[in-house]
Amino acid sequence: MLYDAFNRKHDYLRISITEACNMRCFYCMPDGNKISHIPNHWMNKDEIVEIAKLFVNEGVKKIRITGGEPLVRKDAGEIISALSKLPVELVLTTNGALLHKFIDVFDEVKIHTVNVSLDSLNKEKFFKITKTNTFDNVFENIQILSKKGFRVKVNMVVIKGVNEVEILDFVELTKDSPLEIRFIEFMPFSGNGWKNAQVYPAANILSDIGMKYKFAQIETEIHDTSKKYKIEGFKGNIGLINTITQPFCEGCNRLRLTADGKMKNCLFSKNETDLLSALRRGVDILPLIQQTVMSKHKERGGQFQKNGSEYDGDKIKNRTMIAIGG
Ligand code: 5AD
Ligand code: SF4
Repeated sequence: MLYDAFNRKHDYLRISITEACNMRCFYCMPDGNKISHIPNHWMNKDEIVEIAKLFVNEGVKKIRITGGEPLVRKDAGEIISALSKLPVELVLTTNGALLHKFIDVFDEVKIHTVNVSLDSLNKEKFFKITKTNTFDNVFENIQILSKKGFRVKVNMVVIKGVNEVEILDFVELTKDSPLEIRFIEFMPFSGNGWKNAQVYPAANILSDIGMKYKFAQIETEIHDTSKKYKIEGFKGNIGLINTITQPFCEGCNRLRLTADGKMKNCLFSKNETDLLSALRRGVDILPLIQQTVMSKHKERGGQFQKNGSEYDGDKIKNRTMIAIGG
């Protein structure tokens, strides 16, 4: 079992399989990022599985495949199939543009839950945010998956001045379909120009929703990053991921592996442990994994220094989101 110094058991691993993406969301990859092949310093399929197995032997019960956009990787289907043979719940986060090509694979390997990122229901705004014209495609894929019985969670990053006016439109999507819409507070990562003023706090989201709808909170589990709500009479539900205004690190069970084989014990960790190079040198990497878990900070990588009453986004040392894995 992987316990940290605060006695938190870690049984959830998020594996990024690529830093590449077919979209260009400004908050995730501010400098652009084009990768047309799988570089040698990234984990190959066998290395991904070998490292994942070590985590599973140590009690990991859930693996999430992330990116970049995981489905752009040429051997994504093979990686998904190989990981599905491990005794874990396998889930995936995607921008949704290529989902239609993978429905059969998901069916076959029994992926039941898919998280799809979607920040706007307005085509022009979707283009502004992602620099791509794939709105219809993503929206249709969400509907297809939902109709086929997959559990679909839609992630919307709420950014003040960009899309907070669309919160109620997203809520409306939960009326007739069993979607979960998750509103995520905008977070700072290297180079994404984050400002406190762009955070639209969860409290505001709830009061906006309360102006129009009657809703109730639903029970969540200790590891849940979101607080969940349901509008009276609606089929789906709503989640709020309040990383900035109400951090939820207390029950954290998550570990991360980047596409280049570095382990991170937190989304906001400054430090990384190079598991891939050690593995390639033939070193036993289990002690490295255990040490990395043990050195985890209590909250948000120990990084959120306050500057007066505000957080200082420029002082946070990390990768860009696309290179961490969502
Ligand atoms: N703040 C909040 N969420 C973000 N994501 C990417 N960058 C940020 C950020 N700066 C989201 C993506 C995806 C999820 C994995 O993380 O939109 O839905
Ligand atoms: Fe791609 Fe997702 Fe980053 Fe947008 S947020 S650029 S879709 S990885």
